[in-house]
Amino acid sequence: MERDDTWICSEDIIASGVKPDGITFIAVLTACNHSGLVDLGFQIFNSMQSEHGVDPALDQYTCIIDCLGRAGHFQDVELLMEKMPYKDDPVVWEVVLSCCIVHGNVSLAERAAVELFRLDPESSTPYVLLANIYSSLGRWNDARAIRVWRADE
Ligand SMILES: *[C@@H]1O[C@H](CO)[C@@H](O)[C@H](O)[C@H]1NC(C)=O
Ligand SMILES: *[C@@H]1O[C@H](CO)[C@@H](O)[C@H](O)[C@H]1NC(C)=O
Repeated sequence: MERDDTWICSEDIIASGVKPDGITFIAVLTACNHSGLVDLGFQIFNSMQSEHGVDPALDQYTCIIDCLGRAGHFQDVELLMEKMPYKDDPVVWEVVLSCCIVHGNVSLAERAAVELFRLDPESSTPYVLLANIYSSLGRWNDARAIRVWRADE
């Protein structure tokens, strides 16, 4: 476990005696994300409900999914995607999709893109991002298929 200023700060906030609320956890998880403290962030996220009785809201999910996704911890991302109650919010899927692009995770990128198509069929963003991930992996036919499919609509 990494121990640095973020660790001390997070522990201090949580242990300060003031009952942590959603805002406290956004602050702590944002700090973990910015410092790349993935394991600590995930541990704190998982303690929210079990130890502090705070239900993670969309903001906390977005933050931890971004943190895990940037680090390429896609199995944990997938776990959270399945249990999160915010499946109708495009922000989360955009975060998942952009992390997949960074790490070239096509299978998960496709799932995120499908959710984005479902939520906003008018938006061209998921089409463009998916075409880009195929192109970056040399999957030109898939990239072209998406462009054609899009142009047909
Ligand atoms: C996570 O950290 C990165 C890098 O500092 C930042 O660009 C991104 O916006 C952060 N995500 C969230 C949800 O705060
Ligand atoms: C992509 O994400 C899945 C989880 O949905 C994970 O099991 C797989 O290992 C990831 N693949 C790559 C190339 O990162």
